[in-house]
Amino acid sequence: MDISAVVIIGLASVNKLGIFHLLSKITTREYPIRHGTQANLVKQVIILTLIFAHRGASGTHPENTMLAFFEAERVKADGIELDVHLTKDGEVVIIHDETINRTTNGKGYVKDFTLAEIQQFDAGCKFKAGKFTAKIPTLDEFLKWFRRTTNMICNIEIKKTTVRDFLLEEKTIQLVKQYRLEDRVIISSFNHYSIVYCHQVAPEIEIAPLYMEGIYRPWDYAKSINAKGIHPYYRAVNAQLIQIAQKNGIAVRPFTVDNERDLRYFFRAGTAAVITNYPERAKRIRDSMA
Ligand code: G3P
Ligand code: MG
Repeated sequence: MDISAVVIIGLASVNKLGIFHLLSKITTREYPIRHGTQANLVKQVIILTLIFAHRGASGTHPENTMLAFFEAERVKADGIELDVHLTKDGEVVIIHDETINRTTNGKGYVKDFTLAEIQQFDAGCKFKAGKFTAKIPTLDEFLKWFRRTTNMICNIEIKKTTVRDFLLEEKTIQLVKQYRLEDRVIISSFNHYSIVYCHQVAPEIEIAPLYMEGIYRPWDYAKSINAKGIHPYYRAVNAQLIQIAQKNGIAVRPFTVDNERDLRYFFRAGTAAVITNYPERAKRIRDSMA
């Protein structure tokens, strides 16, 4: 296999964390190769597409539960994507929908339950015919584990449609800071007012707009809101757009890339990261292309 077909190869300096930093401080993982006699001065780096587990390893485990996050860690994903909402008593909880109807054995809006109430429901029981049992986790619980036991990246997606207040953003940022994870977190949202607010109050945390449709020159838009990355629906970008965006310093991390053909396409394009429900599958394919 011609390795140059699947990865970008270039000359670059690497920072002390070993992270290639032309695109973004947390965009790519570098694999140094000895480069003749200049090995100590310049490293040739191969940039591999990072693999983010979407709602954890949600293809095989109940989404947005600690079980799905543990599985992402077990299969050595590079990152975890998760979604956050606020409960009635102002706790940041990890769940995708506004209601608990689809993913738990309860019914109702997240915002109408206190944390103690919402954690009575089972967020595992609807996945694979009751094989799993899990609580809706808090962001605090997740970050505590994430900080202590992993070195992954965390992509926190703020789920919010209104722009009336920024309480969820404030509480999320406060937790990220409490666990000193500013340089391992990317905050994304379909609500771009939300991420702009995050950047204003915590410019040290990376932000990335989520979008579904064909934004024209998305790298220009990203720069205009101080984002270092973009998270498009995978059908809204192609290899050429990805390469131009990344040449412009904007990391592209499409979602949700699950099937083998699409994964290969984005790996070949040198995409900064893919967000996938199947991190183990993605890793196997990525490894097979190296
Ligand atoms: O963050 C990528 C992806 O999660 C966005 O869509 O609906 O799965 O949260 P959704
Ligand atoms: Mg999401």
